[in-house]
Amino acid sequence: MSKEIIKIFDTTLRDGEQSPGASMNTEEKIQIAAQLERLGVDIIEAGFAAASPGDFDAVSKIAQRVQNSTICSLARAIDADIKAAGEAIAAAKMKRIHTFIATSPIHMQYKLKMNPDEVIRRAVRAVEYAREFVDDVEFSCEDAGRSDIGFMKEITDAVINAGASTINLPDTVGFRLPNEIGAMVKEMSEYTKGRAIISVHNHNDLGLGVANSLEAIANGARQVECTINGLGERAGNAALEEIVMALKTRHDIFKDYDTNINTKEIYPTSRLIANITGIEPQPNKAIVGKNAFAHESGIHQDGVLKHKETYEIIRPEDIGLDMEDTLVLGKHSGRAAFKDKLAKLGFTLSDDELNSAFERFKELADKKKDIYDDDIRALITSEMTNI
Ligand code: KIV
Ligand code: ZN
Repeated sequence: MSKEIIKIFDTTLRDGEQSPGASMNTEEKIQIAAQLERLGVDIIEAGFAAASPGDFDAVSKIAQRVQNSTICSLARAIDADIKAAGEAIAAAKMKRIHTFIATSPIHMQYKLKMNPDEVIRRAVRAVEYAREFVDDVEFSCEDAGRSDIGFMKEITDAVINAGASTINLPDTVGFRLPNEIGAMVKEMSEYTKGRAIISVHNHNDLGLGVANSLEAIANGARQVECTINGLGERAGNAALEEIVMALKTRHDIFKDYDTNINTKEIYPTSRLIANITGIEPQPNKAIVGKNAFAHESGIHQDGVLKHKETYEIIRPEDIGLDMEDTLVLGKHSGRAAFKDKLAKLGFTLSDDELNSAFERFKELADKKKDIYDDDIRALITSEMTNI
């Protein structure tokens, strides 16, 4: 049976750039867009064209360059924004305008100062105007997580009639729990069945962005919006690499779905973003953190040496991580891991030499938390000179 494709909509260049300290210049954005295309992202949200001349320029240069991903620009439900978005993406082979307006009572009352009917009128106008530039229009109910579902159905009917083909339900403030997102997505996807694709865009304020995205897929979402390394406003957005690898690793659960992502490009993409933004993923970050494949304890190292799957559910090479050896040695490491590391570094020691070197390694490990290849080389070299 053929699998349904879950579209991956990457917003690293737009929501990711809203992460404090993550601004990127045009050249860097072009480089990232090219890498996202290589990664197999379906839709690249290249920026917010109306935000500044620099953003407009970056979006239009990306639109000229990328061939295999849809290029999208964000636009508020305002004519000037939509015009800028439409003009910036004009050269793209595949193009989309993403327009949005808030639908939650708190946003409508305090931020927009508009009543629900006015919000619907603005949304319809925005979608109709966007359709003058492109065939592919996405509409977002900003703060969907705190919006009334009856009102979302009403505005959704109106924007679909106006020409929107993707309806995005952002949990803008990362407030919802997986079961709540699942229920919302189920109700909205049944309601819009055959008329639009339901998309989700989950923020990570409670650390649930990825869990909420997976629950949304299980309940009918066919597009997920996410960022590399989970960059984004405040606590960030759902991380692309975590969603994609969860779908792949748990194909027993998600057997009916697939993505177009070439997972071997995940690690190179993560590194590119970290290098450009200067924002390193936390060391224990799932999938791309520096410790994500590091086994420090002796018991784990011994297990991995005997059979990788004892403690590894993902093969590093599946995300393009080229590691001869993912073992970091430390004070919990056992003799087997130490011997294995020596062999990989090209040292063959007699049993006596090994015993003595292992003792000195343990002394070093008591003083130094992580022991790297250079430390081992230095230790063995001095061991040998002492012999
Ligand atoms: O979080 C959000 O609501 C957004 C929208 C603009 C889609 O980023
Ligand atoms: Zn967002």
